[in-house]
Amino acid sequence: ARQAEVKRLFRPIEELKKDFAELNVVIETDMQIMVRLINKFNSSSSSLEEKIAALFDLEYYVHQMDNAQDLFSFGGLQVVINGLNSTEPLVKEYAAFVLGAAFSSNPRVQVEAIEGGALQKLLVILATEQPLATKKKVLFALCSLLRHFPYAQQQFLKLGGLQVLRSLVQEKGMEVLAVRVVTLLYDLVTEKMFAEEEAELTRETSPEKLQQYRQVHLLPGLQEQGWCAITASLLALPEHDAREKVLQTLGALLATCRDHYRQDAQLSRTLASLQAEYQALAALELQDGEEEGYFQELLGSINSFLQGLR
Ligand SMILES: *[C@@H]1O[C@H](CO)[C@@H](O)[C@H](O)[C@H]1NC(C)=O
Ligand SMILES: *[C@@H]1O[C@H](CO)[C@@H](O)[C@H](O)[C@H]1NC(C)=O
Repeated sequence: ARQAEVKRLFRPIEELKKDFAELNVVIETDMQIMVRLINKFNSSSSSLEEKIAALFDLEYYVHQMDNAQDLFSFGGLQVVINGLNSTEPLVKEYAAFVLGAAFSSNPRVQVEAIEGGALQKLLVILATEQPLATKKKVLFALCSLLRHFPYAQQQFLKLGGLQVLRSLVQEKGMEVLAVRVVTLLYDLVTEKMFAEEEAELTRETSPEKLQQYRQVHLLPGLQEQGWCAITASLLALPEHDAREKVLQTLGALLATCRDHYRQDAQLSRTLASLQAEYQALAALELQDGEEEGYFQELLGSINSFLQGLR
């Protein structure tokens, strides 16, 4: 509803360009538009609505890698990062929305953002009381900053990121974020594993990057911070797709958490009941002539996890 409201206030850029073209007005370059939007956002005379609309529009541009780098080059990236410090939850939310898009698969911007203090600010927001919508976007920006960037992952661990995420998944009303957090952890664990495997097989990974991945002590951190128990308890979530993500993560943590999982009686009960539930659903799929159905796949994941646990 919030996005619809912002959209209503601000016309789509394509529509504006068409109007300009009809008026024979020279069309601004992306750079000029970004400078204008940043000035609007950075100006003390802009209203809150105008600032949010500027960020909302900016997000469209920074998906392009070149634009995101240009945003940095004229100082706009830092202005958006500082927006995370705003006392307005909406400004934090839309600043994170822009940053998440700008960081995505853009190593240069990720490096600049770390230098600009983005990681600390994102963690502070996640660790304090904020509306769910704000935390959702901030978590998205955090994921986008950490992915494929081992240096940021190291900093994240040093700054107590795992504790922050643990409090987040245990906070009341933030349950919907738990699955996203677990998915992030799964991605980080497997990313490090693949990078190390690939380095051994192909020798193509740069030694420096490999060195950085080796310094991301993620699994020991997860174990120390109680994530074996947290991930196990999340398997009791009611949605199938949530369980699918949690199972995936349990599998990735199996070598690290095996002792815990074996002694967790609640986990054994949950697994047994899910196994029965998915056996029934998989049988229905087969009756319908579906050979590689979703529930058969889930049942397969449960069975292979149980096997790995033995
Ligand atoms: C944003 O505003 C501040 C204070 O008015 C100013 O010093 C800074 O240069 C502005 N930044 C950009 C990128 O326009
Ligand atoms: C932003 O807030 C952090 C603490 O959350 C503080 O350390 C920092 O100085 C603030 N930065 C700006 C530019 O206000």
